[in-house]
Amino acid sequence: ISGEMNGEEFTEQFLLEVVDILFSYIKKTYDRKSKVLDFHHQHQLLEGLEGFSLELSDQPQPLEQILVDCRDTLKYGVKTGHPRYFNQLSSGLDIIGLAGEWLTATANTNMFTYEIAPVFIAMEDILLKKMHEITGWGETEADGVFSPGGTISNLYSVIVARYKRFPEIKTKGMTALPDITLFASEHSHYSVKKAAAVLGIGTDNVIAVKCDERGKMIPYELEANILKAKRQGRVPLYVCATAGTTVYGAFDPLANIADICKKYDLWMHVDAAWGGGLLMTRKHSFKLNGIERANSITWNPHKLMGVPLQCSAFLIHEKGLLQACNQLRAEYLFQPDKLYDVTYDTGDKTIQCGRHVDVFKLWLMWRAKGTRGFEILINKFLELAEYLYKELKARDNFELVFDGEPELTNVCFWYIPPSLRRIPRGPEQEKMLHQVAPKIKARMIEEGTTLVSYQPQGDKVNFFRMIFSNPATKKSDIDFLLEEIERLGMDL
Ligand SMILES: Cc1ncc(COP(=O)(O)O)c(C=O)c1O
Repeated sequence: ISGEMNGEEFTEQFLLEVVDILFSYIKKTYDRKSKVLDFHHQHQLLEGLEGFSLELSDQPQPLEQILVDCRDTLKYGVKTGHPRYFNQLSSGLDIIGLAGEWLTATANTNMFTYEIAPVFIAMEDILLKKMHEITGWGETEADGVFSPGGTISNLYSVIVARYKRFPEIKTKGMTALPDITLFASEHSHYSVKKAAAVLGIGTDNVIAVKCDERGKMIPYELEANILKAKRQGRVPLYVCATAGTTVYGAFDPLANIADICKKYDLWMHVDAAWGGGLLMTRKHSFKLNGIERANSITWNPHKLMGVPLQCSAFLIHEKGLLQACNQLRAEYLFQPDKLYDVTYDTGDKTIQCGRHVDVFKLWLMWRAKGTRGFEILINKFLELAEYLYKELKARDNFELVFDGEPELTNVCFWYIPPSLRRIPRGPEQEKMLHQVAPKIKARMIEEGTTLVSYQPQGDKVNFFRMIFSNPATKKSDIDFLLEEIERLGMDL
Protein backbone atom coordinates (compact mmCIF):
# COMPACT_ATOMS: atom_id res chain seq x y z
CA ILE A 1 0.00 0.00 0.00
CA SER A 2 1.63 3.19 -1.18
CA GLY A 3 2.33 6.20 1.02
CA GLU A 4 1.43 8.54 -1.89
CA MET A 5 -2.31 7.89 -1.74
CA ASN A 6 -5.00 10.07 -0.24
CA GLY A 7 -7.31 8.68 2.42
CA GLU A 8 -10.02 7.49 0.07
CA GLU A 9 -7.61 5.75 -2.31
CA PHE A 10 -5.85 4.24 0.63
CA THR A 11 -9.10 2.84 2.03
CA GLU A 12 -10.06 1.49 -1.38
CA GLN A 13 -6.68 -0.13 -1.90
CA PHE A 14 -6.77 -1.72 1.55
CA LEU A 15 -10.27 -3.08 1.12
CA LEU A 16 -9.51 -4.41 -2.37
CA GLU A 17 -6.56 -6.28 -0.93
CA VAL A 18 -8.78 -7.69 1.82
CA VAL A 19 -11.25 -8.81 -0.84
CA ASP A 20 -8.35 -10.45 -2.73
CA ILE A 21 -7.46 -12.42 0.39
CA LEU A 22 -11.06 -13.43 0.92
CA PHE A 23 -11.50 -14.37 -2.72
CA SER A 24 -8.41 -16.53 -2.79
CA TYR A 25 -9.68 -18.27 0.38
CA ILE A 26 -13.06 -18.84 -1.25
CA LYS A 27 -11.37 -20.41 -4.29
CA LYS A 28 -9.37 -22.70 -2.01
CA THR A 29 -12.53 -23.57 -0.11
CA TYR A 30 -14.10 -25.02 -3.25
CA ASP A 31 -10.88 -26.68 -4.44
CA ARG A 32 -10.85 -30.39 -3.65
CA LYS A 33 -7.06 -30.41 -3.91
CA SER A 34 -6.81 -28.05 -0.95
CA LYS A 35 -7.18 -29.37 2.58
CA VAL A 36 -10.17 -28.83 4.80
CA LEU A 37 -7.89 -27.73 7.61
CA ASP A 38 -4.27 -27.29 8.61
CA PHE A 39 -4.47 -28.30 12.25
CA HIS A 40 -2.34 -26.77 14.99
CA HIS A 41 -2.61 -27.12 18.74
CA GLN A 42 -3.51 -24.07 20.80
CA HIS A 43 0.02 -23.75 22.18
CA GLN A 44 1.40 -23.64 18.63
CA LEU A 45 -1.00 -20.84 17.71
CA LEU A 46 -0.08 -18.95 20.86
CA GLU A 47 3.64 -19.43 20.30
CA GLY A 48 3.29 -17.96 16.79
CA LEU A 49 3.57 -19.60 13.39
CA GLU A 50 5.81 -18.37 10.57
CA GLY A 51 5.34 -14.70 11.36
CA PHE A 52 1.71 -15.09 12.48
CA SER A 53 1.51 -13.87 16.03
CA LEU A 54 -1.65 -13.42 18.09
CA GLU A 55 0.07 -11.04 20.50
CA LEU A 56 -1.57 -7.65 21.03
CA SER A 57 0.88 -4.75 21.18
CA ASP A 58 0.80 -1.22 22.59
CA GLN A 59 1.91 0.20 19.26
CA PRO A 60 -0.14 0.00 16.02
CA GLN A 61 0.84 -2.56 13.41
CA PRO A 62 1.26 -1.43 9.78
CA LEU A 63 -1.56 -2.24 7.37
CA GLU A 64 0.71 -4.68 5.51
CA GLN A 65 0.85 -6.69 8.73
CA ILE A 66 -2.91 -6.40 9.16
CA LEU A 67 -3.33 -7.95 5.70
CA VAL A 68 -0.96 -10.78 6.62
CA ASP A 69 -2.97 -11.28 9.82
CA CYS A 70 -6.18 -11.56 7.78
CA ARG A 71 -4.64 -14.09 5.42
CA ASP A 72 -3.12 -16.23 8.18
CA THR A 73 -6.28 -16.19 10.28
CA LEU A 74 -8.03 -17.91 7.41
CA LYS A 75 -5.04 -20.13 6.66
CA TYR A 76 -5.05 -21.77 10.10
CA GLY A 77 -8.82 -21.97 10.36
CA VAL A 78 -11.20 -24.64 9.08
CA LYS A 79 -12.77 -24.39 5.63
CA THR A 80 -16.36 -25.05 6.57
CA GLY A 81 -17.48 -24.54 2.98
CA HIS A 82 -15.13 -27.22 1.61
CA PRO A 83 -17.05 -29.95 -0.29
CA ARG A 84 -15.58 -32.52 2.13
CA TYR A 85 -16.44 -30.73 5.35
CA PHE A 86 -19.25 -32.70 7.01
CA ASN A 87 -18.53 -31.97 10.64
CA GLN A 88 -21.40 -29.73 11.65
CA LEU A 89 -25.03 -29.23 10.67
CA SER A 90 -24.03 -25.80 9.36
CA SER A 91 -21.72 -26.17 6.40
CA GLY A 92 -21.16 -24.75 2.94
CA LEU A 93 -20.39 -21.26 1.74
CA ASP A 94 -23.22 -19.60 -0.14
CA ILE A 95 -21.91 -16.66 -2.14
CA ILE A 96 -25.10 -14.61 -1.99
CA GLY A 97 -25.33 -15.28 1.73
CA LEU A 98 -21.72 -14.18 2.06
CA ALA A 99 -22.47 -10.97 0.16
CA GLY A 100 -25.39 -10.47 2.54
CA GLU A 101 -23.09 -10.83 5.52
CA TRP A 102 -20.62 -8.34 4.05
CA LEU A 103 -23.40 -5.83 3.50
CA THR A 104 -24.70 -6.41 7.02
CA ALA A 105 -21.27 -5.73 8.48
CA THR A 106 -20.98 -2.60 6.34
CA ALA A 107 -24.35 -1.30 7.54
CA ASN A 108 -23.29 -2.15 11.10
CA THR A 109 -26.60 -1.38 12.73
CA ASN A 110 -28.76 -2.83 15.45
CA MET A 111 -32.14 -4.54 15.26
CA PHE A 112 -33.65 -3.04 18.40
CA THR A 113 -35.43 -0.07 16.83
CA TYR A 114 -37.01 0.85 13.53
CA GLU A 115 -35.28 4.16 13.99
CA ILE A 116 -31.87 2.75 13.10
CA ALA A 117 -32.78 -0.41 11.13
CA PRO A 118 -35.91 0.41 9.12
CA VAL A 119 -35.17 -1.82 6.13
CA PHE A 120 -33.94 -4.77 8.17
CA ILE A 121 -36.96 -4.61 10.52
CA ALA A 122 -39.25 -4.66 7.49
CA MET A 123 -37.34 -7.65 6.11
CA GLU A 124 -37.63 -9.51 9.40
CA ASP A 125 -41.37 -8.96 9.31
CA ILE A 126 -41.61 -10.25 5.73
CA LEU A 127 -39.47 -13.30 6.51
CA LEU A 128 -41.44 -14.19 9.62
CA LYS A 129 -44.72 -13.94 7.69
CA LYS A 130 -43.33 -16.15 4.94
CA MET A 131 -42.18 -18.71 7.49
CA HIS A 132 -45.54 -18.64 9.28
CA GLU A 133 -47.26 -19.29 5.97
CA ILE A 134 -44.94 -22.20 5.20
CA THR A 135 -45.44 -23.80 8.61
CA GLY A 136 -49.20 -23.61 8.06
CA TRP A 137 -50.11 -20.75 10.37
CA GLY A 138 -52.30 -17.92 9.19
CA GLU A 139 -50.04 -15.01 8.46
CA THR A 140 -51.66 -12.36 10.63
CA GLU A 141 -52.05 -14.28 13.86
CA ALA A 142 -48.43 -15.20 14.46
CA ASP A 143 -45.27 -13.53 15.65
CA GLY A 144 -41.58 -14.27 16.12
CA VAL A 145 -38.06 -13.02 16.27
CA PHE A 146 -34.68 -13.92 14.81
CA SER A 147 -32.34 -15.01 17.55
CA PRO A 148 -28.65 -15.86 17.88
CA GLY A 149 -29.13 -19.61 17.30
CA GLY A 150 -31.38 -22.59 17.93
CA THR A 151 -30.34 -22.77 21.56
CA ILE A 152 -31.65 -19.26 22.16
CA SER A 153 -34.80 -19.94 20.10
CA ASN A 154 -35.48 -22.99 22.27
CA LEU A 155 -34.84 -20.84 25.34
CA TYR A 156 -37.49 -18.40 24.08
CA SER A 157 -39.96 -21.26 23.78
CA VAL A 158 -39.63 -22.15 27.46
CA ILE A 159 -39.73 -18.49 28.52
CA VAL A 160 -43.01 -17.83 26.72
CA ALA A 161 -44.60 -21.16 27.65
CA ARG A 162 -43.92 -20.43 31.30
CA TYR A 163 -45.12 -16.83 31.06
CA LYS A 164 -48.32 -17.86 29.29
CA ARG A 165 -49.36 -20.13 32.17
CA PHE A 166 -47.75 -18.15 35.00
CA PRO A 167 -47.49 -14.47 34.04
CA GLU A 168 -46.44 -13.62 37.60
CA ILE A 169 -43.06 -15.20 36.83
CA LYS A 170 -42.01 -11.91 35.26
CA THR A 171 -42.26 -9.91 38.46
CA LYS A 172 -42.30 -12.44 41.29
CA GLY A 173 -39.82 -15.00 39.98
CA MET A 174 -39.72 -18.74 40.53
CA THR A 175 -40.91 -18.63 44.15
CA ALA A 176 -44.40 -17.76 42.86
CA LEU A 177 -44.55 -20.95 40.77
CA PRO A 178 -45.33 -24.60 41.49
CA ASP A 179 -42.84 -27.32 40.47
CA ILE A 180 -43.06 -27.29 36.70
CA THR A 181 -41.93 -30.10 34.43
CA LEU A 182 -40.80 -30.05 30.82
CA PHE A 183 -40.69 -33.02 28.44
CA ALA A 184 -38.38 -33.68 25.51
CA SER A 185 -37.21 -36.89 23.91
CA GLU A 186 -33.98 -38.61 24.89
CA HIS A 187 -32.69 -37.66 21.44
CA SER A 188 -33.64 -33.98 21.76
CA HIS A 189 -30.99 -31.28 21.63
CA TYR A 190 -29.29 -30.41 24.92
CA SER A 191 -30.47 -26.82 24.61
CA VAL A 192 -33.82 -27.75 26.20
CA LYS A 193 -31.98 -28.78 29.35
CA LYS A 194 -29.83 -25.71 29.09
CA ALA A 195 -32.95 -23.55 28.99
CA ALA A 196 -34.20 -25.28 32.16
CA ALA A 197 -30.86 -24.60 33.85
CA VAL A 198 -30.76 -20.96 32.76
CA LEU A 199 -34.37 -20.28 33.74
CA GLY A 200 -34.11 -21.74 37.23
CA ILE A 201 -36.34 -24.70 36.38
CA GLY A 202 -33.50 -27.18 36.79
CA THR A 203 -32.30 -29.90 34.48
CA ASP A 204 -33.80 -32.63 36.69
CA ASN A 205 -37.19 -31.23 35.75
CA VAL A 206 -36.74 -31.99 32.07
CA ILE A 207 -38.01 -35.50 31.56
CA ALA A 208 -36.26 -37.46 28.81
CA VAL A 209 -38.99 -39.37 26.98
CA LYS A 210 -38.03 -42.73 25.48
CA CYS A 211 -37.60 -43.06 21.73
CA ASP A 212 -37.98 -45.94 19.30
CA GLU A 213 -35.09 -47.50 17.37
CA ARG A 214 -35.07 -44.61 14.88
CA GLY A 215 -34.86 -41.98 17.59
CA LYS A 216 -38.48 -40.82 17.43
CA MET A 217 -40.31 -39.96 20.63
CA ILE A 218 -42.82 -42.67 21.63
CA PRO A 219 -46.17 -40.91 22.27
CA TYR A 220 -47.29 -43.54 24.78
CA GLU A 221 -44.12 -42.88 26.82
CA LEU A 222 -44.79 -39.15 26.75
CA GLU A 223 -48.28 -39.63 28.11
CA ALA A 224 -47.06 -42.06 30.77
CA ASN A 225 -44.46 -39.52 31.90
CA ILE A 226 -46.99 -36.71 32.04
CA LEU A 227 -49.29 -38.81 34.21
CA LYS A 228 -46.41 -39.81 36.45
CA ALA A 229 -45.38 -36.17 36.98
CA LYS A 230 -48.98 -35.30 37.86
CA ARG A 231 -49.14 -38.15 40.36
CA GLN A 232 -45.99 -36.73 41.96
CA GLY A 233 -47.74 -33.39 42.43
CA ARG A 234 -45.72 -31.72 39.70
CA VAL A 235 -47.15 -29.41 37.03
CA PRO A 236 -46.49 -30.53 33.44
CA LEU A 237 -46.03 -27.39 31.36
CA TYR A 238 -44.28 -27.93 28.07
CA VAL A 239 -43.32 -30.53 25.49
CA CYS A 240 -40.48 -30.06 23.02
CA ALA A 241 -40.96 -32.28 19.97
CA THR A 242 -37.98 -32.48 17.65
CA ALA A 243 -38.33 -32.30 13.88
CA GLY A 244 -34.93 -33.52 12.80
CA THR A 245 -32.85 -34.72 15.72
CA THR A 246 -29.22 -33.72 15.86
CA VAL A 247 -27.68 -37.16 15.57
CA TYR A 248 -30.22 -39.51 13.92
CA GLY A 249 -32.16 -36.87 11.97
CA ALA A 250 -35.40 -38.29 13.38
CA PHE A 251 -38.82 -36.67 13.24
CA ASP A 252 -40.97 -37.04 16.33
CA PRO A 253 -44.63 -37.89 15.54
CA LEU A 254 -45.87 -34.30 15.73
CA ALA A 255 -49.59 -34.95 15.25
CA ASN A 256 -49.69 -37.53 18.07
CA ILE A 257 -47.72 -35.23 20.33
CA ALA A 258 -50.09 -32.37 19.48
CA ASP A 259 -53.03 -34.57 20.56
CA ILE A 260 -51.36 -35.26 23.90
CA CYS A 261 -50.50 -31.58 24.43
CA LYS A 262 -54.11 -30.68 23.73
CA LYS A 263 -55.43 -33.34 26.10
CA TYR A 264 -53.27 -32.14 28.99
CA ASP A 265 -53.21 -28.46 28.04
CA LEU A 266 -49.44 -28.31 27.53
CA TRP A 267 -47.40 -25.92 25.42
CA MET A 268 -46.18 -27.66 22.30
CA HIS A 269 -42.85 -26.48 20.95
CA VAL A 270 -41.32 -27.99 17.82
CA ASP A 271 -37.56 -27.82 17.61
CA ALA A 272 -37.15 -27.83 13.83
CA ALA A 273 -33.76 -26.13 14.05
CA TRP A 274 -32.32 -28.79 11.77
CA GLY A 275 -35.30 -30.35 9.98
CA GLY A 276 -37.23 -27.10 9.37
CA GLY A 277 -35.60 -26.73 5.97
CA LEU A 278 -37.68 -29.68 4.71
CA LEU A 279 -40.72 -27.41 4.87
CA MET A 280 -39.30 -25.77 1.74
CA THR A 281 -39.70 -28.95 -0.30
CA ARG A 282 -42.97 -30.34 -1.62
CA LYS A 283 -41.50 -33.83 -1.61
CA HIS A 284 -40.38 -34.03 2.01
CA SER A 285 -42.43 -31.50 3.99
CA PHE A 286 -44.99 -34.17 4.98
CA LYS A 287 -42.42 -35.40 7.51
CA LEU A 288 -43.33 -32.36 9.61
CA ASN A 289 -47.09 -32.86 9.40
CA GLY A 290 -48.59 -31.60 12.64
CA ILE A 291 -46.14 -28.71 13.02
CA GLU A 292 -49.03 -26.34 12.29
CA ARG A 293 -50.51 -27.34 15.65
CA ALA A 294 -47.43 -26.17 17.58
CA ASN A 295 -47.53 -23.15 19.86
CA SER A 296 -43.97 -22.29 18.91
CA ILE A 297 -41.24 -23.41 16.53
CA THR A 298 -37.47 -23.14 16.23
CA TRP A 299 -36.21 -23.12 12.64
CA ASN A 300 -32.56 -22.43 11.81
CA PRO A 301 -31.96 -21.26 8.24
CA HIS A 302 -28.26 -21.46 9.13
CA LYS A 303 -28.42 -25.24 8.99
CA LEU A 304 -30.20 -27.02 6.12
CA MET A 305 -30.89 -23.83 4.14
CA GLY A 306 -27.20 -22.97 4.08
CA VAL A 307 -27.48 -19.39 5.34
CA PRO A 308 -24.19 -18.20 6.87
CA LEU A 309 -24.03 -18.30 10.66
CA GLN A 310 -26.02 -17.13 12.50
CA CYS A 311 -29.62 -17.20 11.45
CA SER A 312 -32.30 -18.80 13.59
CA ALA A 313 -36.00 -18.02 13.73
CA PHE A 314 -38.19 -18.39 16.78
CA LEU A 315 -41.81 -18.50 15.62
CA ILE A 316 -44.77 -18.20 17.97
CA HIS A 317 -48.40 -18.70 17.10
CA GLU A 318 -49.85 -16.21 19.57
CA LYS A 319 -49.27 -12.61 18.65
CA GLY A 320 -48.40 -10.24 21.48
CA LEU A 321 -47.14 -12.89 23.91
CA LEU A 322 -43.44 -12.30 23.24
CA GLN A 323 -43.94 -8.59 23.78
CA ALA A 324 -45.91 -9.03 26.99
CA CYS A 325 -43.43 -11.55 28.32
CA ASN A 326 -40.21 -9.67 27.64
CA GLN A 327 -41.12 -6.01 27.40
CA LEU A 328 -39.56 -3.63 29.92
CA ARG A 329 -40.06 -0.30 28.10
CA ALA A 330 -36.59 1.18 28.56
CA GLU A 331 -37.28 4.88 28.22
CA TYR A 332 -33.99 5.77 26.58
CA LEU A 333 -34.66 3.42 23.67
CA PHE A 334 -38.35 2.71 23.24
CA GLN A 335 -39.88 6.17 23.49
CA PRO A 336 -43.64 5.88 22.88
CA ASP A 337 -43.86 9.32 21.23
CA LYS A 338 -41.70 8.75 18.16
CA LEU A 339 -42.77 10.02 14.75
CA TYR A 340 -43.37 6.51 13.36
CA ASP A 341 -45.47 3.49 14.31
CA VAL A 342 -43.57 2.24 17.37
CA THR A 343 -44.91 -1.29 17.07
CA TYR A 344 -41.98 -1.66 14.66
CA ASP A 345 -39.56 -1.08 17.54
CA THR A 346 -39.47 -4.83 17.96
CA GLY A 347 -36.48 -4.87 20.30
CA ASP A 348 -38.59 -5.10 23.45
CA LYS A 349 -39.95 -8.50 22.34
CA THR A 350 -36.51 -9.96 22.83
CA ILE A 351 -34.38 -10.93 25.81
CA GLN A 352 -31.52 -8.92 24.34
CA CYS A 353 -30.91 -5.23 24.04
CA GLY A 354 -28.64 -4.94 21.00
CA ARG A 355 -29.37 -7.55 18.34
CA HIS A 356 -27.30 -8.44 15.29
CA VAL A 357 -28.90 -8.22 11.85
CA ASP A 358 -29.29 -11.88 10.85
CA VAL A 359 -32.13 -11.41 8.41
CA PHE A 360 -30.55 -9.68 5.46
CA LYS A 361 -28.45 -12.62 4.23
CA LEU A 362 -31.50 -14.92 4.42
CA TRP A 363 -33.69 -12.39 2.64
CA LEU A 364 -31.07 -11.90 -0.07
CA MET A 365 -30.62 -15.66 -0.59
CA TRP A 366 -34.40 -16.09 -0.79
CA ARG A 367 -34.51 -13.36 -3.44
CA ALA A 368 -31.68 -15.00 -5.38
CA LYS A 369 -32.89 -18.62 -5.17
CA GLY A 370 -36.61 -18.24 -4.73
CA THR A 371 -38.41 -20.83 -2.62
CA ARG A 372 -37.91 -23.26 -5.52
CA GLY A 373 -34.14 -22.81 -5.38
CA PHE A 374 -34.06 -23.85 -1.72
CA GLU A 375 -36.27 -26.79 -2.62
CA ILE A 376 -33.86 -28.02 -5.31
CA LEU A 377 -30.92 -27.66 -2.94
CA ILE A 378 -32.55 -29.52 -0.07
CA ASN A 379 -33.90 -32.30 -2.31
CA LYS A 380 -30.32 -32.77 -3.51
CA PHE A 381 -29.04 -33.13 0.06
CA LEU A 382 -31.57 -35.89 0.63
CA GLU A 383 -30.48 -37.64 -2.56
CA LEU A 384 -26.89 -37.55 -1.35
CA ALA A 385 -27.96 -39.09 1.97
CA GLU A 386 -29.79 -41.81 0.07
CA TYR A 387 -26.68 -42.49 -2.01
CA LEU A 388 -24.52 -42.79 1.11
CA TYR A 389 -27.05 -45.10 2.75
CA LYS A 390 -26.98 -47.43 -0.26
CA GLU A 391 -23.18 -47.33 -0.46
CA LEU A 392 -22.90 -48.27 3.21
CA LYS A 393 -25.27 -51.17 2.78
CA ALA A 394 -23.20 -52.41 -0.15
CA ARG A 395 -19.81 -52.21 1.57
CA ASP A 396 -18.57 -54.96 3.90
CA ASN A 397 -16.54 -52.80 6.25
CA PHE A 398 -19.40 -50.55 7.28
CA GLU A 399 -22.48 -51.09 9.38
CA LEU A 400 -25.52 -48.85 9.78
CA VAL A 401 -26.50 -47.78 13.30
CA PHE A 402 -30.16 -48.17 12.39
CA ASP A 403 -31.60 -49.49 9.19
CA GLY A 404 -34.15 -47.71 7.05
CA GLU A 405 -33.85 -45.02 4.42
CA PRO A 406 -32.75 -41.62 5.75
CA GLU A 407 -35.61 -39.23 6.51
CA LEU A 408 -33.30 -36.26 6.80
CA THR A 409 -29.68 -36.00 5.66
CA ASN A 410 -28.22 -37.79 8.72
CA VAL A 411 -26.67 -41.19 8.09
CA CYS A 412 -25.11 -42.93 11.10
CA PHE A 413 -22.65 -45.77 10.72
CA TRP A 414 -19.71 -47.68 12.12
CA TYR A 415 -16.53 -48.51 10.31
CA ILE A 416 -15.48 -52.03 11.34
CA PRO A 417 -11.74 -52.52 10.75
CA PRO A 418 -10.64 -56.00 9.54
CA SER A 419 -9.19 -56.88 12.99
CA LEU A 420 -12.59 -56.34 14.62
CA ARG A 421 -14.50 -58.24 12.01
CA ARG A 422 -12.83 -61.40 13.23
CA ILE A 423 -14.19 -60.89 16.77
CA PRO A 424 -17.85 -61.82 17.37
CA ARG A 425 -20.29 -59.03 18.33
CA GLY A 426 -20.41 -58.63 22.08
CA PRO A 427 -19.15 -56.41 24.89
CA GLU A 428 -15.49 -57.01 24.04
CA GLN A 429 -15.90 -56.05 20.40
CA GLU A 430 -18.07 -53.07 21.33
CA LYS A 431 -15.41 -51.79 23.70
CA MET A 432 -12.88 -51.88 20.87
CA LEU A 433 -15.32 -50.45 18.35
CA HIS A 434 -15.92 -47.52 20.69
CA GLN A 435 -12.32 -46.44 20.13
CA VAL A 436 -12.31 -46.73 16.36
CA ALA A 437 -14.15 -43.55 15.36
CA PRO A 438 -12.15 -41.25 17.72
CA LYS A 439 -8.88 -42.69 16.43
CA ILE A 440 -9.88 -42.25 12.80
CA LYS A 441 -11.12 -38.74 13.54
CA ALA A 442 -7.81 -37.81 15.20
CA ARG A 443 -5.93 -38.96 12.11
CA MET A 444 -8.43 -37.14 9.90
CA ILE A 445 -7.83 -33.87 11.74
CA GLU A 446 -4.07 -34.31 11.50
CA GLU A 447 -4.24 -35.01 7.77
CA GLY A 448 -6.94 -32.41 7.15
CA THR A 449 -8.45 -34.21 4.16
CA THR A 450 -12.06 -34.33 5.33
CA LEU A 451 -14.02 -33.85 8.54
CA VAL A 452 -16.96 -35.83 9.89
CA SER A 453 -18.32 -36.04 13.42
CA TYR A 454 -18.78 -39.01 15.75
CA GLN A 455 -20.50 -39.65 19.06
CA PRO A 456 -22.02 -42.42 21.16
CA GLN A 457 -25.80 -42.38 21.60
CA GLY A 458 -27.60 -44.22 24.41
CA ASP A 459 -26.24 -47.77 24.42
CA LYS A 460 -24.58 -47.37 20.99
CA VAL A 461 -20.79 -47.02 21.05
CA ASN A 462 -19.05 -44.27 19.07
CA PHE A 463 -20.25 -44.06 15.48
CA PHE A 464 -19.87 -41.60 12.63
CA ARG A 465 -22.69 -39.20 11.82
CA MET A 466 -22.72 -37.93 8.28
CA ILE A 467 -24.93 -35.03 7.28
CA PHE A 468 -25.42 -33.05 4.10
CA SER A 469 -25.99 -29.31 4.09
CA ASN A 470 -23.20 -28.23 1.76
CA PRO A 471 -24.18 -27.34 -1.82
CA ALA A 472 -20.63 -28.04 -3.04
CA THR A 473 -20.71 -31.73 -2.03
CA LYS A 474 -21.03 -34.36 -4.76
CA LYS A 475 -21.37 -38.15 -4.77
CA SER A 476 -17.62 -38.44 -5.48
CA ASP A 477 -16.98 -36.69 -2.13
CA ILE A 478 -18.99 -39.39 -0.39
CA ASP A 479 -16.88 -42.05 -2.09
CA PHE A 480 -13.81 -40.12 -0.99
CA LEU A 481 -14.98 -40.00 2.63
CA LEU A 482 -15.64 -43.73 2.81
CA GLU A 483 -12.30 -44.55 1.21
CA GLU A 484 -10.55 -42.12 3.53
CA ILE A 485 -12.13 -43.71 6.61
CA GLU A 486 -10.98 -47.12 5.36
CA ARG A 487 -7.48 -45.84 4.63
CA LEU A 488 -7.15 -44.18 8.05
CA GLY A 489 -8.71 -47.02 10.01
CA MET A 490 -7.57 -50.17 8.24
CA ASP A 491 -4.78 -50.97 10.73
CA LEU A 492 -6.82 -50.36 13.89
C1 LIG B 1 -32.22 -30.14 16.89
C2 LIG B 1 -31.37 -28.99 17.30
N1 LIG B 1 -31.87 -28.01 18.04
C3 LIG B 1 -31.14 -26.95 18.43
C4 LIG B 1 -29.82 -26.84 18.07
C5 LIG B 1 -29.02 -25.67 18.54
O1 LIG B 1 -28.82 -24.77 17.51
P1 LIG B 1 -27.68 -23.67 17.58
O2 LIG B 1 -26.39 -24.39 17.39
O3 LIG B 1 -28.02 -22.74 16.47
O4 LIG B 1 -27.76 -23.02 18.93
C6 LIG B 1 -29.24 -27.84 17.30
C7 LIG B 1 -27.83 -27.75 16.91
O5 LIG B 1 -27.27 -28.61 16.33
C8 LIG B 1 -30.03 -28.94 16.88
O6 LIG B 1 -29.52 -29.94 16.16
